[in-house]
Amino acid sequence: MQPPPSPLGVPADALVVLMGASGSGKSTFAARHFGPNDVLSSDALRGLIAGDQSDQSATEDAFELLRIALRMRLARGRLSVVDATNVQRWARRLLLDAARRHGRPAIAIVLDLPLAICLERNELRLANRLPAAAIRRQHRWLADSMPMLAAEGFARIDLLRSLDDVDVARVEIT
Ligand code: CTP
Ligand code: MG
Repeated sequence: MQPPPSPLGVPADALVVLMGASGSGKSTFAARHFGPNDVLSSDALRGLIAGDQSDQSATEDAFELLRIALRMRLARGRLSVVDATNVQRWARRLLLDAARRHGRPAIAIVLDLPLAICLERNELRLANRLPAAAIRRQHRWLADSMPMLAAEGFARIDLLRSLDDVDVARVEIT
């Protein structure tokens, strides 16, 4: 028997950057471990703006709105969980810059699950299904990001690499 892993400690005023390809389970993880008011989701904001969470024409507006809401939350010291793929360095950079400007710690929670799992879940999805090539690309961008992630300025990086890691993970707001 393995001892239970220690909980992922998250300061109550932190920026939490979820990272992972589509289908890695970011939104499921966010809903399980954080309050609905704490999560800024690019999909939800696309829905708000365009009436359809998968309307890619609303992506730019959705991220603009996400960053505005994030700045307001960080200014107030509200826990802010960003539910977007965040597999590209420039996307993380914008989030990290906002946290730094407001003096808030940034935590990365990486759902680095096998590509096959992301693809399989994508096939089973009723909504927000993406072309397989897009998921392969995101998975590759995440892999490419990993070696330099520690140098980007996160106060901590929590890596979840298997279904089991995700299943047993607990979050403790500190
Ligand atoms: N899923 C699952 N078991 C899990 C986690 C997710 O079966 N432990 C399923 C979800 O029900 C969903 C799909 O896998 O149908 C994708 O999960 P989701 O949390 O939506 O993944 P995201 O990473 O949020 O994907 P996206 O970037 O497309 O929003
Ligand atoms: Mg999602």
